[in-house]
Amino acid sequence: MLLEERKRKSKNLFDFNVKPNCIIQGDNREVLKSLSLNYSNKIKCIYIDPPYNNGEKHYHYEDRNSHNDWLRKIEKTLRYLKPLLSVDGSIWISIDDKEMHYLKVLADKVFGRENFISTIIWQQRTTRENRSIFSNNHEYILVYARNPVAFKKSRNLLPLSKDVLSRYKNPDNDPRGSWQSVSANVQDGHATKNQFYEIVAPNGKKHNPPKGRCWSYSKVRMDNEIKNNNIWFGKDGNGVPRVKKFLYSAKRGLTPETLWLGDFAGTNRNAKKHFLQMFPDSKVFDTPKPEKLIEKILLIATNENDLVLDSFLGSGTTASTAHKMNRKYIGIEKSPKILDIAKRRLELVMQGEQGGISKSVGWKNGGCFEFINFRQNLA
Ligand SMILES: C[S@@+](CC[C@H](N)C(=O)[O-])C[C@H]1O[C@@H](n2cnc3c(N)ncnc32)[C@H](O)[C@@H]1O
Repeated sequence: MLLEERKRKSKNLFDFNVKPNCIIQGDNREVLKSLSLNYSNKIKCIYIDPPYNNGEKHYHYEDRNSHNDWLRKIEKTLRYLKPLLSVDGSIWISIDDKEMHYLKVLADKVFGRENFISTIIWQQRTTRENRSIFSNNHEYILVYARNPVAFKKSRNLLPLSKDVLSRYKNPDNDPRGSWQSVSANVQDGHATKNQFYEIVAPNGKKHNPPKGRCWSYSKVRMDNEIKNNNIWFGKDGNGVPRVKKFLYSAKRGLTPETLWLGDFAGTNRNAKKHFLQMFPDSKVFDTPKPEKLIEKILLIATNENDLVLDSFLGSGTTASTAHKMNRKYIGIEKSPKILDIAKRRLELVMQGEQGGISKSVGWKNGGCFEFINFRQNLA
């Protein structure tokens, strides 16, 4: 045995030659240590959905730990994950109310407060749970970047949704195409003098800004915008002036927001329904994430062929979504029974499974993945 190899083995580090796409059966704390041999600075997006420690006993796995144990284990995992991120990489961590605030403090410590990007609120259920004091309808996703400046440059805007597109119309047959009107006045808190004046519409009607507000443009600029047909006074010309915002200038995409409603990112119920479509004879996996949720994360944080890692793979949502979106992926799951579900799910995806995001991303079939048993590789 070479000296190098002996040294590695003495530290329980195994160069087990992982090539994405692959799903690995093993405890992530063991596997990640070895992954660091080949994947430091290489992963563009890490998504994790760890057990939330909310005391529940799921059919497929248990979620009961002492608070301190849970924190200790998750800290260890986060510390292994951090060096894997590429310079413009980001990590997204799902969590609910029970441990959210403790996890935030811990993640600040591991990734650095200065690298915290945002907390996303995800509406995981749209129906009311009447049995509890409050119907808990949301979860959180904590987002950290390896380097926020690099991440800001590399992150993608979101494509305009059908809903947003439907707001663009062309009631005056403007040759520049569809537009929507937005307010022409703003709060006057930071206004300068030249934002207070009377606008005279082309039909002679006079308009002043509402109380506490001023026009968004100076008088000179506003006159120019009116001349260039960029201000809308309603169909009959008597309406309050509004600014025409053209679709061609909005096409770059939308800045992601932090409130992700079920319509936008799917719900837990959507995910369970999808699971049962794929595995009608299985006991449903309790806590699958919807592919739509992971799709939004991957749209923002990655491009085609980028590498995605999920070290709490569960039923394989991240891997399936990445596969359908032509991203490369590595998934780690410690339970053989659960990883078998993920494996069967990926096989269905390769054959052209049409649930989840398949239709919206135009998924047909194809691709491949490898299955690795970490412990067997050590033998
Ligand atoms: C909440 S589930 C993930 C669900 C997943 N996002 C999905 O859509 O199916 C958490 C998973 O992490 C796995 N897990 C818990 N501790 C682990 C560890 N140390 N290493 C690898 N997997 C682990 C559990 O077996 C469980 O399947």
